[in-house]
Amino acid sequence: MLVVDFGAQYAQLIARRVRELNVFSEIVGHRLSAAEMAAKHPAAIILSGGPKSVHVDGAPSLDPAVYDLGIPILGICYGAQLIAQQLGGTVGRGMKGEYGRTELTRNGASLILPDEAPGEHECWMSHFDGVTEAPAGFTVTASSPGAPVAVLENDDRKIYGVQFHPEVKHSPFGMGAMARFLHERAGIANDWKMASVIDEQVALIRERVGGARVICGLSGGVDSSVAAALVHKAIGSQLTCIYVDTGLMRKNESEQVVETFRRHLGIELIHADEGASFFEALAGLTEPESKRKAIGERFIRVFEKHTGGLTEAKFLVQGTLYPDLIESGGADGTAAVIKSHHNVGGLPDDMELELIEPLRDLFKDEVRALGTELGLPDEMVWRQPFPGPGLGVRIIGEVTPERVALLQEADAIVREELKNAGLEREIWQSYAALLADVRSVGVMGDERTYGHPIIIRAVTSDDAMTADWARIPYETLEVMSQRIINEVAGVNRVAYDITSKPPGTIEWE
Ligand code: XMP
Repeated sequence: MLVVDFGAQYAQLIARRVRELNVFSEIVGHRLSAAEMAAKHPAAIILSGGPKSVHVDGAPSLDPAVYDLGIPILGICYGAQLIAQQLGGTVGRGMKGEYGRTELTRNGASLILPDEAPGEHECWMSHFDGVTEAPAGFTVTASSPGAPVAVLENDDRKIYGVQFHPEVKHSPFGMGAMARFLHERAGIANDWKMASVIDEQVALIRERVGGARVICGLSGGVDSSVAAALVHKAIGSQLTCIYVDTGLMRKNESEQVVETFRRHLGIELIHADEGASFFEALAGLTEPESKRKAIGERFIRVFEKHTGGLTEAKFLVQGTLYPDLIESGGADGTAAVIKSHHNVGGLPDDMELELIEPLRDLFKDEVRALGTELGLPDEMVWRQPFPGPGLGVRIIGEVTPERVALLQEADAIVREELKNAGLEREIWQSYAALLADVRSVGVMGDERTYGHPIIIRAVTSDDAMTADWARIPYETLEVMSQRIINEVAGVNRVAYDITSKPPGTIEWE
């Protein structure tokens, strides 16, 4: 089914919820013509919410011929207002608006609201304008204090609209309404499953690759790991993975990558153990951009060095995900590849390889489910996002092997204690940073110390664009602090970073 995007990322959440109902969904831009939409043979169409008013100039609209395709349509919020406006109803201007929890009152039998939803129930609204008069042929089956037409339905034309947001958790009957629309009104079976994604992709990859050789750059992160495991399932020993070990990974992470891929999954893996050459390239550099540049350049050289022998390779696997392809705010729905190759500065431009991107239809949580289905261990599937330049951007000052070793120990304590507190999966990213250029006075036992501070950073986020500092219990912070100071020589102070993003960034560099 198609989700038509009217901006501001409402469409992504809707598409995910639809997939949770085991129906495959794809996001498209609102500028697509009715013919272009029809060519995708959707079983249903959902019109998403959007940030604009239908009354402003240039407000995103829909090819009106879409309403005549005979494909069931559900409009959500802005989408519902657009239906009303385009089909001859009225959308009020400058109404009071409703934001947040709102009481919805049923006015009659509904074919969209679930039967178990009571006559009055809570839902989540976020609107200024609202439909005041439904178009001819529509019945109004629910209203709210600020939205006289909160649910409108035309079962003959199979067009429905809801002013509330069924896709958010604060609308307890929202998923029920989406399920009713998809399964009952549009008659779509709930049979889209991860296992079928694997079968489908395996067949596609085999057909495309034939007998050719394929390479995959592993970063140790979730996306490239799952992509590699999936391609390996399809073509086995025709796949060679390359893991560029920069020496800047977290404690034990490189060992784990090698162990999982080589021993556990039996994938042919080149472990480019190049830490020493990265440290050499980083010697004397203190400025963040020059450090990043040095790491990026070294990465490309190392990759070239190790793939140089694989001259017969024709394909390169990349762990591009669906959100990487959707432009932020994607009102135009024009897919643009945002993720540049790999975590680190990108791969050589002159590599003439065709891309295999087996995860490009999937969201992060689906990729995790797929990884588990493919037999990847939890530590890998649930790994936090990690910057390509690794601990190189978490050491403020020059990066040396000694400092990386120190930081790895402190960082491992932060991770261990978060795990012990059961907070791992609630947190987007958590780590320790080393202020290598700063020293302060302390006292341990009878001795005066002059050591470096460690900064603990832990944030909650949905997409890394914005983030908030995680409210970690004091007790957990206390254990982290005590352990770091007692166990990591050279550190005599621990601070917790309470900066949100913006204005801060997630990484310290
Ligand atoms: P900032 O620090 O800008 O980070 O708030 C946003 C997200 O991006 C990650 N990050 C990187 N990821 N290569 C990457 O693949 C990089 O060079 C890089 N720098 C930052 C960061 O960890 C966070 O998730």
